[in-house]
Amino acid sequence: MKRQQFIEALGNIVGSTHVLVNGDLSSWEQDWRKRIRGKSLAVVRPVNVDQVSAIVRLSSEAGYSIVTQGGNTGLVAGSIPDDSDSQVVLSMQRMNTIRSIDIDNLTMTLEAGCILQSAQEAAEVAGYFFPLSLGAEGSCTIGGNLATNAGGTSVLRYGNARDLCLGLEVVTADGDIWHGLSGLRKDNTGYDLRNLMIGSEGTLGIITAATVKIYPKPAAILTAWAAVPSIDAAVELLRLCRQYLSADLTGFELINRSSLCLVNKHYPKLNIPFWEDCPYCVLLENSDDESEHHANSRLEHLFELAIEQGCVVDAVVSQNISQSNQFWLIRESITLAQASEGLNIKHDVSIPISSISNFVEQTDAKLKRAFPGIRLVTFGHLGDGNLHYNIQAPDFTNPADFIAQHENLISQLVYESVKEFSGSISAEHGIGALKVDILPLFKDATALRMMRSIRYALDPKGLFNPRRVIR
Ligand code: FAD
Ligand code: MLT
Ligand code: ZN
Repeated sequence: MKRQQFIEALGNIVGSTHVLVNGDLSSWEQDWRKRIRGKSLAVVRPVNVDQVSAIVRLSSEAGYSIVTQGGNTGLVAGSIPDDSDSQVVLSMQRMNTIRSIDIDNLTMTLEAGCILQSAQEAAEVAGYFFPLSLGAEGSCTIGGNLATNAGGTSVLRYGNARDLCLGLEVVTADGDIWHGLSGLRKDNTGYDLRNLMIGSEGTLGIITAATVKIYPKPAAILTAWAAVPSIDAAVELLRLCRQYLSADLTGFELINRSSLCLVNKHYPKLNIPFWEDCPYCVLLENSDDESEHHANSRLEHLFELAIEQGCVVDAVVSQNISQSNQFWLIRESITLAQASEGLNIKHDVSIPISSISNFVEQTDAKLKRAFPGIRLVTFGHLGDGNLHYNIQAPDFTNPADFIAQHENLISQLVYESVKEFSGSISAEHGIGALKVDILPLFKDATALRMMRSIRYALDPKGLFNPRRVIR
């Protein structure tokens, strides 16, 4: 089918105003980190699952591939087209309805284009709580969260996106609709297709809706901000929190001084405690079933113990939810501050918590030796063993030039360390386009063969997100 005919046929499915081919399409074609810019054949914006199915059948017949896009906040360039001018960006933005909330079953069924923050708000209005939370929650979508198996800041207690999902509605590469929106917590009827789709980054099917778990709201959620002398001390604090708060510990984040230095530079109005005094700070969260007063006194007592033990130098405990949110705002601003500082290199790694301190010490030393002046922006979800071991070019160096010259060697050094410490090269962001060539170097060969077989079985024509995740 000729290109123009194809575009008209797309218009017949969704209405021509929802097929974008001209004008500034950068918000669909440029990745969030500004690392890659693609060129699409068209951006198409369906409003329901039948339209998605029709678009898939049409594209398959016409021989054009599809890149599904949610909020385009992914950090591995998996949601943008390549530069071939022959891929359709299928934007889920208009499919954003909350279909239902089932209080007795503690579930919410919503369309894939629903913004994460809207999902949280819908649960809150019903008097409940949807715990998935990440810095991009104002623009990422539930479909994107599931497609990437997003992590975020409450994994410690509630798990990754996968753990929060009970059912899916998916359009397959044949254009068929899999009606899998069950809210069942037990269902052993063969292969787990839901978990196959989750984390597949748009390569196995298009998620059009999901049924997710909601929870009773904790009576109070309070945070504390602590200055710690080392990562070992942070791990000791984590151990203490686990003993003292047990399941009420819902977040445990580590942040190094360089990260806070960037936040302070780009967001000078944020009042960051202790950032100049210590090499690392910890932000931890306590969800309490009794009251704000109870949450506060438990945290105060915890830090008396921690200071006595020497793993904490100083700490501030929030008195109320608004102070808690202030601490989270500092933490969530790191990615934005990094972006304002210029292009950067991200390594989203996981390492057994017991080895993180050695990993950082060794890798920091290797990089500082090889690249004097390099800025190591290290932060992340220590409670999950997930570090964002990010790199910013030295001061007064052009970031684009620095990355062009040194990214490969820097990442090689980092990933060699990750391998040495039995870690993973992608903890929560996925593989996308940016890590597709390095995955085979770190993934078990048999696992890769099985992944290829699955992909070929479900999408033999390579219609969905070609050359993403695995080639
Ligand atoms: P997109 O970026 O649009 O897409 C991501 C991938 O999913 C692509 O491969 C795309 O093809 C596929 N996809 C999207 N929608 C669908 C669908 N409906 N069906 C099938 N495939 C689909 N990630 C974390 O895990 N933890 C964090 O703490 C975190 N913090 C972040 C903070 C900031 C400031 C930013 C910018 C990003 C952060 N991210 C984080 C990364 C990103 O927000 C997540 O990966 C998010 O889940 C992506 O959702 P999205 O809707 O933007 O997906
Ligand atoms: C975060 O946790 O803030 C993001 O996942 C990290 C990043 O920017 O690397
Ligand atoms: Zn993260």
